[in-house]
Amino acid sequence: MTKICCLGAGYVGGPTCAVIAYKCPDVQVTIVDLNAERIAAWNSDELPIFEPGLDEVVKACRGRNLFFSADVDKGILEADLIFVSVNTPTKKSGVGAGFAADLAYVESATRRIARVATTPKIVIEKSTVPCRTAESMRAILEANSRQNIRFDILSNPEFLAEGTAIADLMNPDRVLIGSLQTPEGFAAQKALADVYAHWVPREKIITMGLWSSELSKLAANALLAQRISSVNALSAICEATGADVDEVAYACGLDSRIGPKFLKASVGFGGSCFQKDILNLVYLSESLHLPEVAEYWKQVVTMNEYQKSRFAELVIRRLFNTITNKHLAVFGFAFKKNTGDTRESPAITLVKHFLQEKAHIHIYDPKVEESQIELDLCNPDVATPEQYKSHVKVYNSPYEAAKDVDAIVVLTEWDEFKTLDYRKVFNSMNKPAFIFDGRLILDTQKLRKIGFQVEVIGRQA
Ligand code: NAI
Repeated sequence: MTKICCLGAGYVGGPTCAVIAYKCPDVQVTIVDLNAERIAAWNSDELPIFEPGLDEVVKACRGRNLFFSADVDKGILEADLIFVSVNTPTKKSGVGAGFAADLAYVESATRRIARVATTPKIVIEKSTVPCRTAESMRAILEANSRQNIRFDILSNPEFLAEGTAIADLMNPDRVLIGSLQTPEGFAAQKALADVYAHWVPREKIITMGLWSSELSKLAANALLAQRISSVNALSAICEATGADVDEVAYACGLDSRIGPKFLKASVGFGGSCFQKDILNLVYLSESLHLPEVAEYWKQVVTMNEYQKSRFAELVIRRLFNTITNKHLAVFGFAFKKNTGDTRESPAITLVKHFLQEKAHIHIYDPKVEESQIELDLCNPDVATPEQYKSHVKVYNSPYEAAKDVDAIVVLTEWDEFKTLDYRKVFNSMNKPAFIFDGRLILDTQKLRKIGFQVEVIGRQA
């Protein structure tokens, strides 16, 4: 029986390896993490992350061929294939601060594998890493391992999107495996391809060199985020000219060379990956002495920040140029629908802007816990604990959140926001009642008929 261990039971390691266990009953999968609390949650009925379909997959194979454990060393010792799926956040200090990926977790995971392993291992980079990280991993493994232990390193970046992780894993557009172009590298590549081939058609399992594989992940995220920033840049032109960004995106998306996906204007992208990976690419370009290339990609992030502040300014302007002491309901705190993840959520930046104007904020999100919202907002970059206590309140119902407020600001595209009883909401609000749709999901005509003042991105009022 093939044995797989995954280091890192996060948004990627958890779902990815759970699906491998689900699809490969002949493979034993153990997911380990340094965070014992997170492991306990994976072993409970309340999984640590919300992802449609995840509960069913975990329930079907947990205890059969899927195990969650805090015993990292045992996981390493027993495995033939080891996924490294640890976090690679943007560095906060030191060389490359604000741009480069912090590889401390990848390095300490690699050192641990070297220290503990007593048999040959295939080590797989699942984390998103800068180009040529595999080379550093190999140097660490070879310098620190016991004698005669062979390590092969593969790059197998993950392309799942949060909110659709299980569907993406069950039916991926492609699985990418990078390896050294040597007989040993090809043999390792085949061992991993054989795992995926349990459910992924062979023609979708693509192989290439390590560096191309590592760079492809950064490139894919940069291109996706660039589409969002492009359509958001167009939304500003639409507002100034009277064009409608939804119509423009529709017309452009019908061109088969462009395609319809990822052309929805919004308050901006969030999530733990897009910004981090673009900044990583910017840093790489600068390190390679390519300042024009760095500047080109940086603009995707600049446009995203611009879109968020533009939206905050719109809210303030329409509310008669002041929101001081006014009450605003924020609908949605997660960075997108169908996830409880708030990392880099546009809502954090928007709430920061509103708090700076001394507005009172009522927050409702169907999947984000109050403790998470507090953690995100009581951050030196956002607000003080005192500001949070006096100006932020979290609600369990959108109707409660919207009571006695001057405006509703929709920041996450949760489906339930489309079907609320907006007459009831309107009746409970201060007048004039404003609604700002930062995701272009609401029926604006219907809302106007009820009496709302409606504002959306990418269209004149
Ligand atoms: P996460 O922060 O949710 O999970 C990482 C986990 O690794 C944490 O639970 C942490 O305790 C654990 N960990 C850190 N060092 C460890 C060690 N030495 N041994 C064992 N466990 C250790 O991060 P997430 O979102 O799962 O991301 C992981 C990687 O996957 C990142 O490089 C990210 O860029 C990449 N990625 C993320 C995607 C996403 O949608 N979140 C999509 C595709 C790739």
